[in-house]
Amino acid sequence: MARIGILTGGGDCPGLNPVIRAVVRKGINEGYEIIGIKNGWKGLIENDTLVLDLGAVSGILPKGGTILGTSRTNPYKKEGDLQKAKENFKKLGLEALIVVGGEDTLGVASKLIKDGISNIVSVPKTIDNDLSSTDYTFGFDTALNTATECIDRLHTTAESHHRIMVVEVMGRHAGWIAIESGIAGGADIILIPEVPVDIEEVCALIKKRHQRGKTFSIIVVAEGAKFKEGTMVTQEEKLDEFGHVRLGGIGERLAQEIEKRTGYETRVSVLGHLQRGGTPSAFDRILGTRFGVKAVELVKNKKFGRMVALTGNKIIDVPIEEAIKTLKTADMELYEIAKVFFG
Ligand code: F6P
Repeated sequence: MARIGILTGGGDCPGLNPVIRAVVRKGINEGYEIIGIKNGWKGLIENDTLVLDLGAVSGILPKGGTILGTSRTNPYKKEGDLQKAKENFKKLGLEALIVVGGEDTLGVASKLIKDGISNIVSVPKTIDNDLSSTDYTFGFDTALNTATECIDRLHTTAESHHRIMVVEVMGRHAGWIAIESGIAGGADIILIPEVPVDIEEVCALIKKRHQRGKTFSIIVVAEGAKFKEGTMVTQEEKLDEFGHVRLGGIGERLAQEIEKRTGYETRVSVLGHLQRGGTPSAFDRILGTRFGVKAVELVKNKKFGRMVALTGNKIIDVPIEEAIKTLKTADMELYEIAKVFFG
């Protein structure tokens, strides 16, 4: 029986299990055996796998995370790992590999295609929604809804205590979660990685609100936002295998500056990994399911080197290389809409 491998790499997100389930259900319908590779590229390097039969995916549709596990392992980082990954692909007798990931995982997939594992099809995921060539990645909608709910909750306490509430959301390079949760949650200021933070302007907007009787403000800031002087706030400088620093801390820095400059009591909530956890929204379950089915169709039709994508309401396929060439940063037209409600 022809075999398809599937792995999930990089940060997890809600919607991965619906993809895995769809690949298994559609794959088995088409006569394939599906092999799950554990913990992203790490599992391919270590030949750590399991057979995914119907029983293995039963009941996983509403579950967050990934039953396969994930890692930020990069097979191009350590000498010998690439060779091991290629050997294991052969040993497993895989006709094709379905790679579910974001910019880093798909970056590896794109290199592997040139370096010997050519039968790869990919599925875009990330709560950051920053992959090109697709209108949405699954995981984003759930994260957005979680962040919006948190902003709603913070609103009532901010209002009662007459405080400034800074809400730090995820978004390494792109402000999608910040802008959309900010619009949905009625934020008074939204700060994103694409537009350097002008602290004077932020304070002026808060003061303007106070002048019109609004003694509380909600400020949503993406973790990747930088101050105008170009300083990015990080938790630690150590790089991961893809060269990323661990972000986090901009909210705290911002709050200190605001309190110092305005004299208004300011508090911070860092939503962090709460945004990545939990049950996928209906939108993400459906998108993940559609992506998974389409990925198996691509394998069946031998359309390798392609990534499934959403455009309008259609599932299409695009070259993996195109999707990772540039990051899809936030839509500035949407940011202009958000700005109508600033201050
Ligand atoms: O790439 C998605 C993401 O959630 C980013 O927004 C965030 O910076 C990063 O992952 C956090 O990664 P980790 O879970 O490895 O700390």
